[in-house]
Amino acid sequence: MKMIVAILRPDRLKGVEDRLKEAGFPSLTEFSVRGRGRQKGITIGDMHYEKLPKSCLLIAAKDGDVKTITGIVTDAGKTGHIGDGKIFVIDVEEAIRIRTGEQGEATL
Ligand SMILES: Nc1ncnc2c1ncn2[C@@H]1O[C@H](COP(=O)(O)OP(=O)(O)OP(=O)(O)O)[C@@H](O)[C@H]1O
Ligand SMILES: [Mg+2]
Repeated sequence: MKMIVAILRPDRLKGVEDRLKEAGFPSLTEFSVRGRGRQKGITIGDMHYEKLPKSCLLIAAKDGDVKTITGIVTDAGKTGHIGDGKIFVIDVEEAIRIRTGEQGEATL
């Protein structure tokens, strides 16, 4: 199992979530974050904004589904401009469905 961590433009979130649901991946966690990339934030006039609002999606997935999911996120999240975000893929050691006690991929 992997955890896909996707940091996205907030205005792309709905489109990404809809596409994932349509493709059979309805389960996810979303939260609002602030971050910066290699441009170190943004300067508008006299104001420098050190960090910008982004949306973070967590999606736990079978190894064999990771390419499909990251493809959808990339496709639906992209504008082609700086600040489109990033995807990180992390190994998951265990998952447990609290209601039933099921473990591993059966929880996905
Ligand atoms: N190395 C990193 N570690 C953790 N979070 C990151 C990292 N790089 C980017 N992020 C997160 O992703 C968000 C968007 O990053 P962004 O797309 O601006 O990356 P970038 O490397 O500057 O690429 P680009 O040149 O396309 O803007 C950041 O605001 C931050 O929340
Ligand atoms: Mg950037």
